[in-house]
Amino acid sequence: MKKTAVVYWSGTGNTETMANLVLEGISAAGGQGSLFPAGDFSAEQAKTFEAFALGCPSMGTEQLEESEFEPLYEELKPLLSGKPVVLFGSYGWGDGEWMRNWAEDCESAGANLVAEPVTANGAPDTDASEACKALGQAVAKA
Ligand SMILES: Cc1cc2nc3c(=O)[nH]c(=O)nc-3n(C[C@H](O)[C@H](O)[C@H](O)COP(=O)(O)O)c2cc1C
Repeated sequence: MKKTAVVYWSGTGNTETMANLVLEGISAAGGQGSLFPAGDFSAEQAKTFEAFALGCPSMGTEQLEESEFEPLYEELKPLLSGKPVVLFGSYGWGDGEWMRNWAEDCESAGANLVAEPVTANGAPDTDASEACKALGQAVAKA
């Protein structure tokens, strides 16, 4: 089982709830997951992990959160190449464009997206919660 870092940014708690569910899924699959708010993680720490679950809501105009998460993601990007990665995040009024762009960018960086990204409209409902747990299982087993 790969050592997985679950790294997220959340302004109002929805993506944080998703991150905790992803972590639950990793544990349920017998994996080893560690949870980090984006502000508490760095590229240096990332070098000790073999897989990544990254979470960020849609902010700006269908963008990643610009002050903390995006700079961290840009630092992490070179380290994602060839590694199992899953993405998740909450959104409001959009159609998920930010996640499509993000997934494409990850793939261009060489990340191995091992499951479809999981999005939740606002707080994760029952279906989105189950999808977050399944995402955790997928990355733990990758
Ligand atoms: C400044 C700001 C910009 C946002 N921009 C978008 C957007 O472009 N598209 C969208 O679907 N939701 C947008 N939202 C809504 C958030 O993605 C949504 O409230 C989400 O649930 C927040 O997740 P969090 O609780 O993890 O912070 C925006 C919210 C804020 C505060």
